[in-house]
Order: sequence, then structure tokens, then C-alpha cells
Amino acid sequence: MTAGDSATLQNDMQDACFRPGLEGIPAVQSNIGHVDGQNGRLEYRGIPIEELADKSTFLETCYLLIWGKLPTQSELDAFKFEVNNHRRLKYRIRDMMKCFPANGHPMDALQSCAAALGLFYSRRALDDPEYIRAAVVRLLAKMPTMVATFNLMRKGHDWVMPRDDLGYAGNFLYMLNEKEPSAEAAHIFDVCLILHAEHTINASTFSARVTASTLTDPYGVIASAVGTLAGPLHGGANEEVLEMLEHIGTADRVAAYVDDCVTNRKKIMGFGHRVYKVKDPRAVILQKLAKEMFEKQGGTPHYELALKLETAVEERLGHKGIYPNVDFYSGLVYQHLGIPSDLFTPIFAMARVAGWLAHWKEQLGENRIFRPTQIYTGEHGLPYEEIAKR
Ligand code: SDX
Repeated sequence: MTAGDSATLQNDMQDACFRPGLEGIPAVQSNIGHVDGQNGRLEYRGIPIEELADKSTFLETCYLLIWGKLPTQSELDAFKFEVNNHRRLKYRIRDMMKCFPANGHPMDALQSCAAALGLFYSRRALDDPEYIRAAVVRLLAKMPTMVATFNLMRKGHDWVMPRDDLGYAGNFLYMLNEKEPSAEAAHIFDVCLILHAEHTINASTFSARVTASTLTDPYGVIASAVGTLAGPLHGGANEEVLEMLEHIGTADRVAAYVDDCVTNRKKIMGFGHRVYKVKDPRAVILQKLAKEMFEKQGGTPHYELALKLETAVEERLGHKGIYPNVDFYSGLVYQHLGIPSDLFTPIFAMARVAGWLAHWKEQLGENRIFRPTQIYTGEHGLPYEEIAKR
């Protein structure tokens, strides 16, 4: 085979492998999460998401995802104690937040703070299990404090100290609203965190693994992932779903809205998924949470509108596998818990940091730096043209 033949063969092979957005192309081997897109199933370390949402807690689910097994009571108690002891932020991080513009997006604030943690813990002892454990605990513990603290500071309030007598979810709601949440609100929010904790090799997790493969510090890994999640095609849709429902306004305008989107090929926020071609199992659970909450505490017109929109989209786009994803109902639940809509995606990040950290550890376990190839579509050997002649 001549050099020319092998080059042609290589190009043919590359053409055969190329998929925009790597659709359907395995980029990693992993035993952390599993998604069955055709049957609408999601498992964390082999356990169905419905089981975890019903019986576990977010912190226990973090332990499962990151260390690969459900903890014993003493392991869970020790983990909770460690996380409680690392919830506070260094004053320099708080002082840095005071300089952030009050109208800045909380996802940008979160990404900045996550990266800034690396300034204080920059030793990259990636071969030291204690360093790994400390980074896991710090990031899990501090992300909620960062989100809540920025929210208070942008209103001109000072931050509030975390409360060790409150669980992970309850403490976040307390720090956010400066008042202790009901046990029911804390439980609902804890379930939401479980549902958002992991979802295999989505864009932000892929970003985390690519960054991790260069052996940088875990704070830079999480900052990469936060920046990726912020996009409206990924984690940012939950905020846009509420804006969409506000815009539609009333049930009699749903059909026209869907028709306009279909005719003009506009994406309907909170619908569709690269893998799920049926309703996202997380959307099923979130919808049930919303329904129960609204039946007990009084509904919101947005919920009835969302139901009508779901039916209309299923009628028009169900044949293409377009159904609600995790972002469609989450905003309604968060809104009812009194959470500002621009914090919905930071909350997604607070939960997904568990999956990102699990994938970070897995990547380190058998690392090879990501460096894919490309199909070059440019020209070769062009002359440099003097500026006077351009
Ligand atoms: C999550 O990957 C993950 O796991 C993500 C996530 C996680 O937990 O990390 O599950 C999080 O699911 C949140 C997704 C939030 N984003 C949105 O809700 C934004 C709206 N959704 C779309 O942008 C879209 O569905 C994506 C980005 C989620 C998936 O897009 P794909 O797989 O690239 O699909 P595509 O854009 O190639 O669309 C395929 C077809 C197109 O029609 P045709 O050109 O074939 O005729 O489906 C249509 C699209 O027009 N389509 C939609 C649609 N999503 C896809 N049409 C209308 N509204 C939509 N939402």
C-alpha cells in the first residue's frame, strides 16, 4: 500500500467515524451511570433513579456515585460530618464575590468561585487518596454556600453561616432565604438534587473528563463543567422554560405557540434529548413532585399550562421522540420553593457536581489525555500575501 493509499484509507475511515457533536460515539467507558433512552430508564451505579429518589438522600447518593457503593451508617455519618465541616467559604472568596456585579449571572459567579478555590488548594497531589477525598468534600460542601452567598450579596445582604443541624438540602434553603425551610420543602429539594446528580457523558460531564485528562486540579475541572452546563441547550433550559410559560400565558395560546415553533424550527425549551426518545424518567418524577406539592399547597397556573403544552408537543413532535426532559418541570418545583429562576441552573450544578466528581475520579483511574482527530476541510500550501496587496 502506497503512502497515498493509506492517506486515502485514513480519510475514508475518519469520514466514516465523524458524527457532529459525537452523536452515538462512545467517548469513555464508565460504570457510574446508565441511560436507556428508548425505555426511559436511568440508573446510578446500577440502582434505578426511582429507587434512589424514593428511599435515598442526596448526600448518600453522592457517596454512591463517587465511591461506587452505598455507605454503611457509620460511613455516611462520617461523610456528613466532613461535609458539614467544610461548608464555609474563605473570607477572601466572599470578598471576591462582593466585587461581582449584582446583575451578573449566578452561573458566572459560581464558575469564578469554583476556579478560585484552586488558588487556596493548588497542590495537585492526584496520586494521594486523601487529596482526592478532601477535594470531593470541599466541592460538595462549598458549592451550595457559594450559590446562596452570591444570592444574598447581590441583594446587599451579608452571607449567613451554614447550620450544622440542618441537612444538605435544608441548609441550602436556609442560607438562600435566611429562614429555616419546612421539612417537606427540604425533602422535595433533596429529591430534586438526587435527580440532577448524574447523567452519564452529557456535555458538561464530557467537559469535566476532558479537563481532568490533562491532570489539572479538580477545581479547574469543575469550573470547566460549570461553564459548559450554563448553556441553554444543556443546563440553562430550566430557567427558559418558565420564561416560555410566562410568554405563552394562557392555555388557548399553546397550540399557536407550538405551531410557530414547528413551522419556524424553533426549539421548545425543556423538550427533546440526545438519548431519551421517550419522556425523561426524571421529568416523570419531577412532575409527580410538582403535582403533589400543588395539590397540597395550592397550585400555580403554570402547572396546568405545562400539562397542556406537554400534550400539544407530544401530538406534534412525539413521532420524532421529542418529549419533556429534566428541565421541563424542575423550574415549576423550584419556583414554588421560592427560588429565583436565575438560580435554577446553579442548583443543577450543585447537584451535578457529584457526577462530575465521580467521573473525575474515574478518569484519573485509567487516564489518557483526550486528543481526538479532525477532518481537515481547508486548503494547503497557500502563499503569504503582503498586506499592501490584500
Ligand atoms: C438535559 O445530555 C444530557 O444528558 C443532558 C441532560 C443532563 O442531565 O445532563 O439530560 C440535561 O436534558 C437538559 C436539556 C435541556 N435543553 C433543552 O431543553 C433545550 C431544548 N432541547 C433541544 O435543544 C435538544 O433537544 C437537545 C439539545 C436537548 C438535544 O438535541 P439533539 O440531540 O442535538 O437533537 P437535534 O437538535 O439534532 O434535533 C433533532 C430533531 C431536529 O429536527 P429535524 O431537523 O430532525 O427535523 O429534533 C428536533 C430538531 O429540530 N428537536 C426539537 C427539539 N429538540 C430537538 N424540536 C423542537 N423543540 C425541541 N426542544
